[in-house]
Amino acid sequence: EKLSYHEAIERASSSLYRFPLLPVRGIPLMNHIANSWDTIWAFRPDPSDILIATYPKAGTTWTQEIVDLLLHNGDADACKRAPTPARSPFLEIVSPPPIPSGIDLMKNMDPPRIIKTHLPFQLVPPAFWENKCKTIYVARNAKDNMVSYYHFDCMNKTQPEPGPWEGYISKFMRGELAWGSWYDHVKGYWKEREKRNILYLFYEDMKENPRREVERIMKYLDLSLSDEVISRIVELTSFEIMKENPMANYSCIPTHVFDNSVSPFMRKGQVGDWRNHFTPEQSKMFAEDYDKKMKEVNIPFRTLI
Ligand code: A3P
Repeated sequence: EKLSYHEAIERASSSLYRFPLLPVRGIPLMNHIANSWDTIWAFRPDPSDILIATYPKAGTTWTQEIVDLLLHNGDADACKRAPTPARSPFLEIVSPPPIPSGIDLMKNMDPPRIIKTHLPFQLVPPAFWENKCKTIYVARNAKDNMVSYYHFDCMNKTQPEPGPWEGYISKFMRGELAWGSWYDHVKGYWKEREKRNILYLFYEDMKENPRREVERIMKYLDLSLSDEVISRIVELTSFEIMKENPMANYSCIPTHVFDNSVSPFMRKGQVGDWRNHFTPEQSKMFAEDYDKKMKEVNIPFRTLI
């Protein structure tokens, strides 16, 4: 029986509930990922495959949409062939049957595939680097990233319970959320970006000048599209348009799994929403800890800290 992605999720959704975390080499991952770790680690991409790597909530879906449109010359209909996770598989996700795992989905797709991962650099299967796969990393400033993750953990019933905001800040600072420490994540890819030819982007740059960043991605992928097509891609990947696009806004996930009444997946899409969440005391405490953790590198986060 061939199920659509949507049907498979609907069928399995009673077992999609608040997965516990298990460490893989010290990184807390959902138990189904940890339990399938050997298969994930052994995954061999095609050299033409494109990896999009992020800490959760840094702008993954946005970047997946941009890359898919770039590969399809801005053809909006082609990029509505399936919802994001079925067009651009999530490498390490091993959901309960009948939902296909990211790796299963890839078996039925021709390269170049647009592969999403939240794994920190050291947990990316080594064949990606052996095959010199193009890799786009997107980083988002810590506070907005945390705010977005908090709302996501509230609405996404597969993620661990976030608990109250106050305690969530501590968990974020200690790296206890799913996929581990934001600090180690952004630093890990930053340190490897030259050696591995990783395109390292910032969410805030994409917001400031989406066209400039779309063009950077296009050049990195050795593509050359017309100005008109680039303009169309910028338009189609704006927050407002993506929010209304059922193939890009995660409305494929049933509401008892992604509870949009708690918070929509396409929530605000803004820079600086942390101001509506952090008290001045929390901001000060966060900044002191941030400076200690981030002083060894000079990643040009332009905003807010
Ligand atoms: P907010 O919760 O701050 O709104 P990811 O795709 O990595 O899960 O990231 C989701 C975050 O990116 C959410 O942030 C979401 O609204 C935002 N986002 C998604 N598409 C976007 C777009 N086209 N432009 C700006 N932000 C976008």
